[in-house]
Amino acid sequence: MLVVAVTRVCFVCLGNICRSPTAEGVFRHLVEEAGLSGAFEIDSAGTAAYHAGESPDRRSAATARRRGVPLGGRARQFVREDFGRFDHVLAMDRANLEALRRLAPSEKARAKVRLLRDHDPRAPAEAEVPDPYYGGPDGFDDVFDICMAACRGLLDELRGR
Ligand code: 4NP
Repeated sequence: MLVVAVTRVCFVCLGNICRSPTAEGVFRHLVEEAGLSGAFEIDSAGTAAYHAGESPDRRSAATARRRGVPLGGRARQFVREDFGRFDHVLAMDRANLEALRRLAPSEKARAKVRLLRDHDPRAPAEAEVPDPYYGGPDGFDDVFDICMAACRGLLDELRGR
């Protein structure tokens, strides 16, 4: 029997209805395209519980669908126990990063948390995925493009190249 090591990845934003479901959908799409579905477990969550139980924001879902990426899942809050479930916790912005670091129960857990865009070789240092929630429709296209670039970089890194 072939045993494949599974890498477990969780994308985290504030509400888990716009940015992190987009990053989750984009990363899953790239993983499937690469024929690596069995090698990854992919999830997303929010640092806040405001939208727990909701589907992705319809603007995020429509933008991603237009680009050939289905979004799914229901919003949930990231909890301390998630540090035991995931190998990599990818924060969308610095506020999410700080909230996750405060929640981390150990140094080992803290070390799992990085900004998503740190994995995009073309992004400036400490670049964020901007919150599109209260902005116009262009913000959702920008989030999608940013997530695509960063998730490509993340997958390249995790594949070791
Ligand atoms: P997300 O966007 O963190 O990308 O899911 C937001 C969703 C909801 C709110 C803020 C950001 N909110 O204030 O309700």
